[in-house]
Amino acid sequence: MNSIINDIEIIKTKTSKINEVDFDNLKFGSVFSDHMLECNFKDGKWQAPKVLPYQPIVLDPSAKIFHYGQSIFEGMKAYKDVDENVWLFRPLDNFKRLNISAKRLAIPELPENYFMDGLKALLEVDQEWIPKKDGSSLYIRPFVFASGNGFHASPADEYKFIICTAPSGAYFAGEVRVLIEEKYSRSANGGVGFAKAGGNYAGQFYPTQLAIDKGYQQVIWTDDNTHEYIEEAGAMNIFIRINDTLITGPTSDRILDGITRKSIIELAKKEGINVEVRKITVSEVVEAAKNGSLKEMFGAGTAAVISPIAGFGYKDADYELPKLDETYASFLKKRITDIQTNKAEDIFGWRY
Ligand code: COI
Repeated sequence: MNSIINDIEIIKTKTSKINEVDFDNLKFGSVFSDHMLECNFKDGKWQAPKVLPYQPIVLDPSAKIFHYGQSIFEGMKAYKDVDENVWLFRPLDNFKRLNISAKRLAIPELPENYFMDGLKALLEVDQEWIPKKDGSSLYIRPFVFASGNGFHASPADEYKFIICTAPSGAYFAGEVRVLIEEKYSRSANGGVGFAKAGGNYAGQFYPTQLAIDKGYQQVIWTDDNTHEYIEEAGAMNIFIRINDTLITGPTSDRILDGITRKSIIELAKKEGINVEVRKITVSEVVEAAKNGSLKEMFGAGTAAVISPIAGFGYKDADYELPKLDETYASFLKKRITDIQTNKAEDIFGWRY
């Protein structure tokens, strides 16, 4: 891969906002660092990326993103260790997945050096924005969308690839209770569920609001055909522990190939936990809740890392998860965040 780092123009802000940020009380994704990376696709190719002051984007009302939702994104994090070294976690996997999403949404794929060198250039300029506090990190949001114009329902001829970042604390505050969905679906075979397409998330907002109105925080997505199989937890992959076995569904057209998901699978196996990647039915989970063998459920994703589920609702009944002193969720969360933040040896070669 040729480096393009020296071709990246850097225009720095004259008015940094960093002193206005309370780094001890960060919410998730609500304050944004001083700079962003911008790279335009036009005349049939990606143009050289630039680092610019964080600023609004000017688009025509006819830009195709507004009409046809041609948009994809990634979620990543940068961490700072005690010696102020900056670490990313499996960034090439995010790059590869961005291009898998791009292909499915008919968006031109990005060259690896534009993504990786663009990211490095941006983090170099905004490295002071990477929080040092435990549990905080710099959330990185790379995204690509159709900026080209036209009402014709076909791929745009111009796109923008942007990366912006947000110093962030925890994604969820407090306990998470979930409702197992019986009517709505997140994705379908042949659809875009495996891609990180913006519309996959917009489509969740209404059913999730219905669940919130009933007192839950998230929806557990089930398969679109029968609603009998557990698929994802809100915007995360899901893990279920029955007795001492950790189970998660196989990736498919409908399930995102989560980087936290696959890291947990590898890590848990390495730690001697019995892991099964297989389809799991709602009735198996309900039965396990009834007979006491359901020990844990948790969501896994970049933003929340591992988010334990306190209880779930299904067909007008509520089920509580046991409150265990030692959980796979907290054990695995500590192991993975220790690797991410350079507190533990990285035997897998995940740190970058
Ligand atoms: C992530 O976990 O990074 C995601 O992309 C999910 C997002 C909805 C916060």
